[in-house]
Amino acid sequence: MRQKIVAGNWKMNLTKEEAQSLTSEIVGMNNDELGTNQKEVKLIICPSFIHISTIKSLFKSSKNIYLGAQNVASQEKGAYTGEISAAMLSSYQVEYVIIGHSERRQYFKESNQEIAQKIDLIFANKMLPIFCCGETLELREEGNHVEFIKNQISESLFHLSASEFEKVIVAYEPIWAIGTGKTASSEQAQEIHAEIRKHISSKYGKEIADKTPILYGGSCKPSNAKEIFACPDVDGGLIGGAALKSRDFVEIAKSF
Ligand code: G3P
Repeated sequence: MRQKIVAGNWKMNLTKEEAQSLTSEIVGMNNDELGTNQKEVKLIICPSFIHISTIKSLFKSSKNIYLGAQNVASQEKGAYTGEISAAMLSSYQVEYVIIGHSERRQYFKESNQEIAQKIDLIFANKMLPIFCCGETLELREEGNHVEFIKNQISESLFHLSASEFEKVIVAYEPIWAIGTGKTASSEQAQEIHAEIRKHISSKYGKEIADKTPILYGGSCKPSNAKEIFACPDVDGGLIGGAALKSRDFVEIAKSF
């Protein structure tokens, strides 16, 4: 049985007060409202760096809720003004790190190789990666999207040992669905998730592939989450806009 996960990527949104309020709303919900006790759904909240300490202080250990970050530097430490290291995040009890998000690849030109370095630092600092992959509409229309995604995975993840890889969370985020309101159909999501799982199996074997949580991201909302999460190879979601509303976020978490 794979772990079911719903992670909220808050991106560059929310002031301190807004982040505190959103976290308090989510943490303050009882398990029936959260749905976590029935479905064993792991919730991960990924605020901006500046909010991490504040958010962590609001967590209650009784909840199935965990803290993540949205990125990490690809260097261990040193003269990298403005960067945040994996050791810094780990010292604030961050447990998960979103890595390779399409916005980082687009705006900050992150390569598969740089993402591989970041993943090594995440593991070295006892955190776990939420690795993002996904295609542009152009690649999909050309029919090159599956090979593109497989290459992202091979170049950033396939250097890992089997014991490291089995701790990886993969998130498939078709770029054309991110923030557009244009969600992938459940057929499209299932097709790519199955291809990702097959590709993982080709390297690490079926047992590890079958255990790897593969999340869907891209305009996932309470209105479409149930259909997408019902797909056999979809194990949850990586949520952007809908994660900024506590009711929507937990509604999605209850959609299994
Ligand atoms: O990382 C999740 C994000 O890219 C999805 O954004 O707003 O389409 O849910 P959104």
